[in-house]
Amino acid sequence: MDLNTQKAEFILSAAKLADCPRDRLPQIAFAGRSNVGKSSVINRLLRRKNFARVGSAPGKTTHINYFRIDEKVYFVDLPGYGYAKVSKQERARWGKLIEQWFADTSLLTLGVLLVDLRHKPTADDCVMAQWFKDSGKPFVVVANKQDKIKKSQWEPNLALIRETLQLPETVPIVSFSAEKGLGREELLGMILDHIREEKEGRT
Ligand code: GTP
Ligand code: MG
Repeated sequence: MDLNTQKAEFILSAAKLADCPRDRLPQIAFAGRSNVGKSSVINRLLRRKNFARVGSAPGKTTHINYFRIDEKVYFVDLPGYGYAKVSKQERARWGKLIEQWFADTSLLTLGVLLVDLRHKPTADDCVMAQWFKDSGKPFVVVANKQDKIKKSQWEPNLALIRETLQLPETVPIVSFSAEKGLGREELLGMILDHIREEKEGRT
């Protein structure tokens, strides 16, 4: 199966679960700390500059953004977590929405958990990883901002990420740089594999 990444449309911004599309197209969910680069990774996959909004008012977005690619798959930009200046109410709203989203098993096809290759994953990252594990759906970890650290740190940091998030062996980690494009083909390949599997599983 091919995916024409040029054919990307913004569909909607969901403020509540009822707004989320349920038309059985696979849903690839991108989750991660605010500012880790979720929108940038989506932009890079789609070879767009400003498609999924980058860097505007971190933490203000408690909406789930849906993009449809080639009428075949949704890329779901989940609202970022861990932004210090977010109010208690907003945090609670975030938690409720995400919890409901994960609880609705008809939504998630493949999870993409973004972390920062430079740092040890935070407690919030560990909670997010646990949600993906509990979902029972496959997920991959993307270690972004690789261009920001020395090559000698790549391997040890990847190991620290795997250990801290307690990733099962079946969960791959992809080194990524949304800035430079590194990891694009590998991640896109994984996404396509999962869409294919999902399709075969249904027919
Ligand atoms: P929220 O939507 O606020 O949760 O943030 P986000 O996770 O979508 O992050 P976003 O894509 O907006 O990126 C945050 C900042 O990091 C921007 O200034 C990006 O340009 C920068 N950035 C993202 N990925 C990379 C990368 O791989 N390398 C470098 N050097 N900068 C990056
Ligand atoms: Mg974003």
